[in-house]
Amino acid sequence: MSKRVAILISGGGSNMVALVRSMTGDHPARPVLVAANDPAAGGLDKARDMGVETAAVDHRAFGGDRAAFEAALMAELERAAPDIICLAGFMRVLGAGFVTRWQGRMLNIHPSLLPKYRGLDTHARAIAAGDTEAGCTVHLVTPALDDGPILGQARVPVLPGDTPDTLAARVLEQEHKLYPAVLRRFAAGDLTPVTMD
Ligand code: GRF
Repeated sequence: MSKRVAILISGGGSNMVALVRSMTGDHPARPVLVAANDPAAGGLDKARDMGVETAAVDHRAFGGDRAAFEAALMAELERAAPDIICLAGFMRVLGAGFVTRWQGRMLNIHPSLLPKYRGLDTHARAIAAGDTEAGCTVHLVTPALDDGPILGQARVPVLPGDTPDTLAARVLEQEHKLYPAVLRRFAAGDLTPVTMD
């Protein structure tokens, strides 16, 4: 029986596309929902074009009421009944109640070599620090931001003259390889971290 995977996005969804495309053949998982916190998220059209059910829960419709937004998002997820949730370019911080409900089967991809550079602007921070390498991390989501057990990492060089955009593009290429590799291993019940150098 395939594992049911829901993917949460906020924007273009390039990681979501890589994940959906990977779930074919003998892959132990299949996508059952792509949900966005923005009805205009470009990834929703891409998901529909790939035949994946979509949902949009506009966080702005709830004003500052995070709990109400998360309850509405939770309802969409409960309907899809996923075994695994993948946060993929999802830019909302989820509260402890939401995270706890899915803890142990909710993954996220973060564009740094955690535990370095939790939070935002990771590439600018790596460049400013003079780092010679950067990368991305897939981890299990816990209530603490960007802090859960690491399931995989991919490394790239920081090159002379790199800007945050040039580094982001190099890291994103690796994200599209790392996340599908981690999801396949995780869906098969194997928590051995994936490393890509
Ligand atoms: C990317 O910068 C990625 O590092 C982070 O979210 C951003 C957008 O990703 N996870 P996507 O193209 O929407 O998957």
